[in-house]
Amino acid sequence: MNHVADLSGPALKPAPSRAPRAPQPAHVPDRLVYDFDLFGDARLKAIGHDRILELARTAPPVFWTPHNGGHWMLCSYDAAYKAARDPDSFTSEFTPFAKVKAMMENLPEGVRRPLVPVPINLDPPEHAKYRAPLNSAFSPRAVMALRDEFRALAIGLIEQARPNGGCEFMTEIAEPLPVTLFLRIFGLPAERQREYRDLAAEDLAGIGQSIADPSAVQRRLWQIVDICRDTLLERQANPQDDLISSLWKLEIDGKPMTLADMENFSIVLFLGGLDTVMNGMGHGIRHLAMNPELQARLRAEPKLIPDAAEEILRRYTFTVPPRMVAKDLVFDGVEMKKGERAYIFLPAADLDSSHFPCPERFDLQRENKAHIAFGTGVHRCVGSHLARVELQTLYEVFLARIPQFRLDPDRLVTFHGGHVIGPDALHLLWDA
Ligand code: HEM
Repeated sequence: MNHVADLSGPALKPAPSRAPRAPQPAHVPDRLVYDFDLFGDARLKAIGHDRILELARTAPPVFWTPHNGGHWMLCSYDAAYKAARDPDSFTSEFTPFAKVKAMMENLPEGVRRPLVPVPINLDPPEHAKYRAPLNSAFSPRAVMALRDEFRALAIGLIEQARPNGGCEFMTEIAEPLPVTLFLRIFGLPAERQREYRDLAAEDLAGIGQSIADPSAVQRRLWQIVDICRDTLLERQANPQDDLISSLWKLEIDGKPMTLADMENFSIVLFLGGLDTVMNGMGHGIRHLAMNPELQARLRAEPKLIPDAAEEILRRYTFTVPPRMVAKDLVFDGVEMKKGERAYIFLPAADLDSSHFPCPERFDLQRENKAHIAFGTGVHRCVGSHLARVELQTLYEVFLARIPQFRLDPDRLVTFHGGHVIGPDALHLLWDA
């Protein structure tokens, strides 16, 4: 059964853009302009991925939108795939790293250094130096060792909700579950979970507003670093069995890790660990809640759950990595100028009908399963093994312990847009 919402309904009022609309640049022809506000599109907020399906069907494969300061959206599978693997054309270094290093050497006293989220905001060859330490920490082997701990956490939370005949899944389960495990792996104190989570949510919500203002971006990043610093320093002095302690023992470029390196690492790990998986769980449990026959099938044949988790990731791909055009170029026949912003719209790429026939259909037998929900190229998600274990385990435990569940018909699901698209809240019901 598929759930493509009726898109012919009354037009929804557009939400205001967070950054000003930009005038159409002279090199952008009218046919490449499409009205879509990644951070505030009213239909995206109301119908989530059904809006993205609509966009994948009707928008140009690469388009320019005037919203949020004006930027490119790379939507087809081919465009997203090519751009993600071409850092010479689409850079992740919004400020060139060489320039940042030079600034650091001449920084006046009392001025805060520019923060660089590593490895995500670096291009090759610098990228590899900062990526290597994370590969082993998040390897399939390291992650398998965490499966039982995660399952126990999941059972605890799900058993707590079961007698209530329903729950608000996002706050009661999706948020505490991956976040508790992540804080433990990373080494941040669990009792400050609420504080960390609020900051991660605030940061992601603020991205739309700070697009046109690099100093606002830096202010947001410093908040994250400030909240982690005590623990970073404490673990340098008293190493424990956690990621912070093991990162301190490594070298970058033959030099011992510095506090500046550790602070740069903590930004992406903090945001990756605290916000992504919970949104993925929200999409998956919502899909299951709308499809009782799929629930029944997976309860009867739990060995299908890994495939189902993958098809959910494809059908509801939800992260949108940003890039900057590195030089004047022509990409897919489209003229782009150095310095323009481009979003790799992975959610639309995985709903591209030329790559995934009948993309709206949830199909466990799909011939081509090669989605790019975790990106592709050098920045491909380092946390993907951990995320997969968490998603599969959550579905297994939830289906085994909660009887047939459904969406609460009185509580409409709404979504947030931006770099991480997900449900705001998810009210479920079941017969206790
Ligand atoms: C379902 C959950 C997740 C999804 C869909 C996801 C998605 C992504 C995507 C698309 C990228 C590529 C970004 C780019 O091209 O610029 C990425 C990178 C990254 N992710 Fe994830 N992620 C998830 C979970 C996690 C987790 C649990 C962590 C763990 C801390 C994590 C850490 C990272 C890091 C550090 C990078 C940067 C890698 C690099 O630049 O080499 N992610 N993620």
